[in-house]
Amino acid sequence: MAESSTAKPRIHIQEVGTRDGFQGEPRFIPTADKVRLIDALSLCGLAKIEVTSFTSPKAIPALADAEEVLRGIRRQPGLVYTSLVPNLKGAERAIAAGTDELNLTMSTSETHNLLNLRMTREQSVARLFEVVDLAKASGVTLNVSLSTCFGCPMEGAIPEAVVFGFAERFLDRGVEGISLCDTTGMAHPDQVRSLCEAFRTRFPRAQVTLHLHNTRGMGLVNALAGIEAGVDRFDASLGGIGGCPYAPGATGNVCTEDLVHLLRAQGHPMDVDLSGLLAAARSLPELLGHDVPGQVMHAGRTEDLHPVPASLTAIRERALGSASAPD
Ligand code: COA
Ligand code: ZN
Repeated sequence: MAESSTAKPRIHIQEVGTRDGFQGEPRFIPTADKVRLIDALSLCGLAKIEVTSFTSPKAIPALADAEEVLRGIRRQPGLVYTSLVPNLKGAERAIAAGTDELNLTMSTSETHNLLNLRMTREQSVARLFEVVDLAKASGVTLNVSLSTCFGCPMEGAIPEAVVFGFAERFLDRGVEGISLCDTTGMAHPDQVRSLCEAFRTRFPRAQVTLHLHNTRGMGLVNALAGIEAGVDRFDASLGGIGGCPYAPGATGNVCTEDLVHLLRAQGHPMDVDLSGLLAAARSLPELLGHDVPGQVMHAGRTEDLHPVPASLTAIRERALGSASAPD
C-alpha cells in the first residue's frame, strides 16, 4: 500500500558495531563470538551490516580475523554486508572474502587522516581511486565514509567546501554512497540539518548516510535533525559501542536499539526487530567484559511496564481511609 505524503519516511538502519565498536576493544573477541553476534543481527531487519575492516592488523589488531568473520557468517538475502577498507590491499582482501560492498575511508581533516591512515588526504584519494577502479571491475558496490565532517578534535571546524570537494571527487569517479561522519560527536542539530540539506541539494543522486557518535549526548537529536533534512540512512552501533582509536576522545556511535526505539515512538515505519536487537545488546557486557552505554537495554522499552508493587493495596486503603477520616 502506498504511504501517504504526510507519512514519516522509512529509515534504513546500518549496524557498525562489529567494526566501529569492536575495533578499539582491548580484549580480542573470539572469531566464533563475532560470527554468532552478526548472525543474530542478520535476523533483525537491518539494511546493512558493516561486518569488519580489512586494515593493517598492526593498526587494528582487534579485527585481524576479518576474512574468517566475513566467510563464517550466515548471510540473509537483501541485507548488504559491507567492509571498511583503507587501501588497495584491504580491498583485494575484502573482495576475495566475498564482501558485497567496500566502505572506503578517509578523513576530511589532514591531521586526523595522517594519524589514522598515515597518509595525507591527497595520498588517500589517490589510493582510494585505485580501489574504486578495482571495485568497478569486480562488481561490488562502493561507499566512502568521510571522517570528521562536523569537526576534527585537533583542527576544529572543517569547511563545508572541503567536505563537498572530497565527496564530489568520489561521486564523479563512480562511488554510489557517501557517509558524512561525526567521528568524535562534535555536531549539533542545526549544523547537521544545514550540512545535510546543502549536501542533498548539491548531490541529489548520491546515497547519503549519517554516521553519528554520541560523545556529547547529541547523537539521537542529531539523527532527528538529519531526518528533517531528508536523510534516511543511519549508521549505528549495538549497545552504543565504538570510536576511532586514532581520534582523541572518541566514544560510542549512536546506539542502534535506542535509535530504533526512538524512531518507532516517532511513528516511522520500521521492520526492525527491536526485541532481537535488545537481546543481542544485552549479550555485549559479558562478551566485551565491560558495561556498554546503550540506555534502552538497561531501562527497558517505554511499553515494558513494571508490575505494580504489592504494597499498593495498603497504600491505597490508607490514602482512601485518611481521605474519608475526620480531621
Ligand atoms: N591489510 C593488511 N595488511 C596491510 C594492509 C591491509 N589493508 N595495508 C597495509 N598492510 C600491511 C603491509 O603489508 C605492511 O606489512 P609489513 O610490515 O608486514 O610489510 C604494513 O601493513 C605497513 O604497510 P604500509 O602500506 O606502509 O601501511 P602504513 O603502516 O602506512 O599504514 C594503513 C597505513 C592505512 C594500512 C594503516 O594505517 C591502517 O590500516 N589504518 C586503519 C585505521 C583504522 O581502521 N582506523 C579506524 C577506522 S576510522
Ligand atoms: Zn565512527
